Amino acid sequence: MLYVTGITGHSGRWFVKRLVSEGYKGKIRCLVLEELDTGFLDNSGLDIEKVVGDLRDQEKLNTSMSGCTMVLHIASIFYSQNVIKAAIRNNVEWAIMVHTTGRYSKYKSASTEYIEIEEHVLKFRDRMGITVLRPTMIYGSSRDQNMYKLISFLHKMKFFPMFGEGENLMQPVHARDLGNAYYDVIVNRSTTFNKDYNLSGKQPLSYMELVRTVSKSLGRKNIIVKIPLWASILAARVYNAVDKKAIISVEQVLRMQEDKAFSYEDAMRDFAYSPVSFEDGIVEEVNEYLAKNKSKAKMR
Ligand SMILES: NC(=O)c1ccc[n+]([C@@H]2O[C@H](COP(=O)([O-])OP(=O)(O)OC[C@H]3O[C@@H](n4cnc5c(N)ncnc54)[C@H](OP(=O)(O)O)[C@@H]3O)[C@@H](O)[C@H]2O)c1
Repeated sequence: MLYVTGITGHSGRWFVKRLVSEGYKGKIRCLVLEELDTGFLDNSGLDIEKVVGDLRDQEKLNTSMSGCTMVLHIASIFYSQNVIKAAIRNNVEWAIMVHTTGRYSKYKSASTEYIEIEEHVLKFRDRMGITVLRPTMIYGSSRDQNMYKLISFLHKMKFFPMFGEGENLMQPVHARDLGNAYYDVIVNRSTTFNKDYNLSGKQPLSYMELVRTVSKSLGRKNIIVKIPLWASILAARVYNAVDKKAIISVEQVLRMQEDKAFSYEDAMRDFAYSPVSFEDGIVEEVNEYLAKNKSKAKMR
């Protein structure tokens, strides 16, 4: 039996779609935070059992994982240690853990915790197979926390402030490609067992190209105003000095300049991972935004 966490999330829902399209016959048990909005699981036709619980509840995790041989932990790296504890207790053979490329950041405040959790989890590779999947920034629908805000900003505003030159590389991954990757990792166990994979989008693009691509997709002619890095840092310093609840820190401005492009060569070789380009992948999300915006305008 396969045990899944985070199935109601952005990439989890794509994973379910793939299971359905493949006619997956295996038994699945999933831990869901709440039963609201889980009708898509009941109507999926999959052999799926829901357990309502919180990943912070170790006892619940331990008992609900009973009888499972494989775990796909999508929900969050911050619960990975609890999941591994429960997996050890239940003699799970293989745990697939969705973590993050955030561990590669040169800024310690961004990477230290991820590295510590991951290293702790990987110590248990002598007890079971542990495969780690590391997505880059996830996009693909209004469920993402990143691109949807950018789409909305570019749609509403003419000018876009760019901190620095915008030359840093990014390689966001579509949630559909992740959902597919989870499935492909599972069915290619002979090659994916106990391995680590970065899961990024088709090609790296600069931050400037990314903003231009979204703007073009929206049919807008936004004007990108570059704010020199020294001025951005100064502004962030002043802002943080006067506002204790500042929403952007100096380090965040600096982190924006960091390249976040990662090769998915291993995933391509081991399970034919073949992600969509950002240019193609963003279209659906832009269309979703435009449709929602249109219906909001009609209601006003
Ligand atoms: N967003 C990014 O750019 C990014 C980048 C790299 C890595 N990642 C990681 O990649 C993974 C997949 O991302 P995603 O966007 O598909 O995730 P997501 O949409 O944020 O979904 C998170 C899932 O975890 C569940 N969950 C959250 N807290 C829980 C708790 N305490 N107990 C039980 N379930 C809980 C949520 O349940 P509800 O639906 O009920 O809220 C949801 O199903 C996550 O681990 C994420 O941290 C994300």
